[in-house]
Amino acid sequence: MVKHINPKTSGRILELGAGIGPFTNSLIKTGVPEEKLVVLEQSPEFTEILERDFPSANVICGDAKNLSGILATLEIEEVDEVVSGIPLNVMGGMLREIICDEAFKHLKRGGSFVQVSYLPRCPVPKNVIAKHAGKKIFCGITLRNIPPAFVWRIKKT
Ligand SMILES: C[S@@+](CC[C@H](N)C(=O)[O-])C[C@H]1O[C@@H](n2cnc3c(N)ncnc32)[C@H](O)[C@@H]1O
Repeated sequence: MVKHINPKTSGRILELGAGIGPFTNSLIKTGVPEEKLVVLEQSPEFTEILERDFPSANVICGDAKNLSGILATLEIEEVDEVVSGIPLNVMGGMLREIICDEAFKHLKRGGSFVQVSYLPRCPVPKNVIAKHAGKKIFCGITLRNIPPAFVWRIKKT
């Protein structure tokens, strides 16, 4: 999920649907400074855990469909990378499209939107990929995950 991320990247790294932070932990383990992380989670309970465990990260309780407003309050226009654990495949098509479009709008060119999925199909809508000139890369299956997870990365060109 985070192998492609350069920890020395100068900008922010946005995580969507962080849960209790397994990808947040991996990002920090690869050397990303905690204060560069913007961690968005809609569950207040999980947000509390994230705030406790990652005190230097920007942890926000909110819905990814409102990403533009959330980033505006933080005075952030662009992020270098997006890591998403949001269960896009179980959402309605319209919501999936809104969330992905919001994320791509704020992703810098050359950055990637990486998404985990428990179904063997890319959950990022084709029209959003086309609109933002994305290049889809299948990164593989993580068998260590239960259930096994599929990972896709869309690079914004
Ligand atoms: C399947 S969990 C994944 C958590 C973590 N990334 C992992 O891999 O263990 C999905 C998380 O996305 C959060 N989530 C779902 N929809 C969201 C939304 N629209 N905005 C922000 N977070 C959302 C859920 O609350 C949940 O914590």
